[in-house]
Amino acid sequence: MNNKKACQVETNNGDGPMSNHSDNAHFSSILERRLSRREVLAGGLGLAVTGMFGLPGLVERAEARKYPSTTGLTVPPKSSIPLNPEFNFSAVPVTRSDTVTIPHGYKAQVLIPWGTPITGNYPEFNPDGNTGEDQEQQIGSNHDGMHYFPFRDDPNGHGLLCVNHEYIDENIFHPEGLTSINDQRPDDEVRKEIAAHGVSITEIRKEPVSGQWEVVRGPYNRRVTAGTPVEIRGPVRGSNLVKTKYSPAGTATRGTLNNCAHGYTPWGTYLTCEENWAGYFVNRTGLPREHNRYGVSQSGGRYRWEAAQGEADEYIRFDASATGRSAVEDYRNEPNTYGWIVEIDPFDPNSKPVKRTAMGRFAHEGCWLAPPQYGKPLVFYSGDDSQNEYIYKFVTKARYNNHVSGDILDEGTLYVACFNDDGTGEWLALDINDRFFRVMAISKGIFFVDQADVLVNTRLAADVVGATKMDRPEWGAVHPQTREVYMTLTNNSSRTTTDAPNPRGPNPYGHIIRWREQGNRPWATRFKWDIFVLAGPEGDGQVLPEQSGPALTQDNIFASPDGLWIDQNGILWIRTDMSGSQQGNGPFGANAMLAANPVTGEIKRFLVGPNNQETTGVISTPDGKNMFVNFQHPGDRSQPNQFTSNWPDSGAVFRHPGESQAVANPTGPRPRSATVVITREDGGVVGV
Ligand code: FEO
Ligand code: CA
Ligand code: CA
Repeated sequence: MNNKKACQVETNNGDGPMSNHSDNAHFSSILERRLSRREVLAGGLGLAVTGMFGLPGLVERAEARKYPSTTGLTVPPKSSIPLNPEFNFSAVPVTRSDTVTIPHGYKAQVLIPWGTPITGNYPEFNPDGNTGEDQEQQIGSNHDGMHYFPFRDDPNGHGLLCVNHEYIDENIFHPEGLTSINDQRPDDEVRKEIAAHGVSITEIRKEPVSGQWEVVRGPYNRRVTAGTPVEIRGPVRGSNLVKTKYSPAGTATRGTLNNCAHGYTPWGTYLTCEENWAGYFVNRTGLPREHNRYGVSQSGGRYRWEAAQGEADEYIRFDASATGRSAVEDYRNEPNTYGWIVEIDPFDPNSKPVKRTAMGRFAHEGCWLAPPQYGKPLVFYSGDDSQNEYIYKFVTKARYNNHVSGDILDEGTLYVACFNDDGTGEWLALDINDRFFRVMAISKGIFFVDQADVLVNTRLAADVVGATKMDRPEWGAVHPQTREVYMTLTNNSSRTTTDAPNPRGPNPYGHIIRWREQGNRPWATRFKWDIFVLAGPEGDGQVLPEQSGPALTQDNIFASPDGLWIDQNGILWIRTDMSGSQQGNGPFGANAMLAANPVTGEIKRFLVGPNNQETTGVISTPDGKNMFVNFQHPGDRSQPNQFTSNWPDSGAVFRHPGESQAVANPTGPRPRSATVVITREDGGVVGV
């Protein structure tokens, strides 16, 4: 590591950036139970906040103060979580088997695979027979980020599961892929595809006798899709950049797209994050910067929804060409209404999702809350998952207390990270009123009309201040006790110039970076960072490389780290998203989930997924005894009616190491993304 400063910021008090950056190297209801929402928050979320995330006791005390007599709140004070977890399982070997391979002593069940009926008329899954209307009442496709909101009556056996549905695999979703007739798409296929995207909210309960989790057909169950009406809030609300034919006032849009990872808030709402939304649009009349910098196509959208046969407004809006006399006569601004963090209240099925624009617009992987501290700002971290893009954080203007709501997300400062090669770093404000930001914008000849313009063009604003180009930032995790932040940098085949935070070029295996904010204050503008692990095969993978940590072995080699989560017992769970060829030809086997000890750097492979999937969302019940894990896009279709995976409908849900392999039958059942619930055979805690 050399001591070159990638972007050095002088500060007046340790937090406030000033303007000398000459050395910048980059430039570049609750209904039937009559429980009020507050009661649920007090019981369920109180447990979630304290037990699941080990947040400092301030939150639970605040909750307890609020509900001293009505809830009988018995959440034990929890001032710490284990810093040095000891694993209770043997490492699962590198595996290729069309099932989930889990350690001896563990078992698994499948829950809510794609197509599970959850609401309305509960249409049964029939992959080639279900209509668009059916899909709107079923679990979506391609499960990704996920959170569990427990109910007060039985937090470890009853809750709401919120799951992101990122996209569709067209060759599995339809019998013959996308249908095109005279270059147009059948309306109901488009409707079905739109309905398979978004978020599902499902009430689930653990049946006490069988111990099996099942869907409760109740009033909370809901689908939010790529067509659901959504409110636009924050600085971009009403901006000329989001005025459309649908919303001439620029206050609303329809849908949420490519929902990748997620977040949650202390007030009990779910945050879903829009990642690769740009590919769903086409603009044939020239790309403005707010389209070009994000990769909107000039030839056609990913699934060509814009070419729906009936030319219904809700479909042709994916054509962002400027065809009208003004923006309110067409959908030139439709792409600008995507790329945001979207807040959903899972406890109110009638609530409108809200796009929180103050948190920036990019290919949001997820949104990770730093442990809330009473009387201090809330801080959320987010990565922009594209090659050579940036890491961001949002700091609220208002301070956290037990009366805050989603509105607190509408005012604050969005920062972008600059990692210096000497192990220090700075957060640079993307704020039109920030002196450094203004000077840098002027020096580069880039003009922003107002803060809405800055936020719609978040990537450009980050270019302006010289943020550090990273190797595809994916998930983050904030340690509830130490407040250290971990973030995966999954890989980067295009890196040619290395730097200390991105030390391999190209970077085929990825790494995990971590940082600690100055003074351990999440809202600070300076930090120190190091690399937690360089992923890779034996001989090219190492834990804590700057501290000469151990090399990776057969028990823990992995590549392309993607998902991250720190559980209530201090385990850092790492999930991988290797390409099909890396899984097929590399030394790593299929995509997996590994457990890491953040202190010692011990890493052990906990499970391996079925063929050709990526291992995505993970969350547990507050007691840590039921772990929900998502497996996205198992299999693919090698030729008509031939699948490379039949999971989970093959019946081979899971196996243990040494047991017979599960082999895919090309003419067997169609693979489906699904959630799996993992428990210990002795009913103990998962992992430790
Ligand atoms: Fe949807 Fe970056 O993963
Ligand atoms: Ca991901
Ligand atoms: Ca990935």
